Amino acid sequence: MKLIRTENYAEMSVEAGKIIVDKIRSNPSLTLGLATGSTPKGVYNYLIQDHKADGTSYQQMKSVNLDEYIGLKAQDTNSYHYFMRQNLFNHIDINENQTHIPNGAADDLEQECVRYEQLIKELGGVDLQLLGIGQNGHIGFNEPGTPFSSRTHIVTLAENTRIANSRFFNSLEEVPTHAITMGIASILESKEILLLVSGEKKSEALLKFMNGDISEEFPASALKHHQNVTVIADRDALKYI
Ligand code: F6R
Repeated sequence: MKLIRTENYAEMSVEAGKIIVDKIRSNPSLTLGLATGSTPKGVYNYLIQDHKADGTSYQQMKSVNLDEYIGLKAQDTNSYHYFMRQNLFNHIDINENQTHIPNGAADDLEQECVRYEQLIKELGGVDLQLLGIGQNGHIGFNEPGTPFSSRTHIVTLAENTRIANSRFFNSLEEVPTHAITMGIASILESKEILLLVSGEKKSEALLKFMNGDISEEFPASALKHHQNVTVIADRDALKYI
């Protein structure tokens, strides 16, 4: 595992953005695994600025997102579909037909999980997966206790995850209780993983990740089984390291 230390969120975002741009320039039709939340926003901003200034093209690129809330339609402003359009897709030349996010409003959610796994396989797997980490060590929405063998599945969100994400909603009650997420085994099949960690709130999770045991009680620890993980963290997140 490689660790890149950065001063702050902005620098972390630039480091990650440069790695992604390099990959896309050398392999324009790659499949990028994307995340939502606060952590990757700066990276997406970097990609948008670079697209405008330097013309990096996303026309051939394919993307798969890690997760989506259950019960929110794509148009819902709190859905991850909406987040991706607002924060990235609307501002670059990506072909929307080549972007994929689990459908949390599907009639048959179990079937949706099967479809999503199949889709990733048909795309030839994820070349580079961008990840954030939850304070409880979750990756995607794989909460503590999720088997490392898990594939795309339906999860019940942990209370602390709902509380952390309630900042985007009007109230905690509005935060969905369930989500669809790529499983840990699905994530580990990505050829390369970029884990971004920013802020003091994540410092204990980062400490556990770097120095703790590999355990299903701390989902991110599964990444230690992967051969090609780069962690990009800022000074606040690295407080204990
Ligand atoms: C989002 C996702 C989550 C987040 C994590 C951190 O698609 O899969 O695992 O990466 O909850 O969220 P932020 O970045 O908001 O702190």
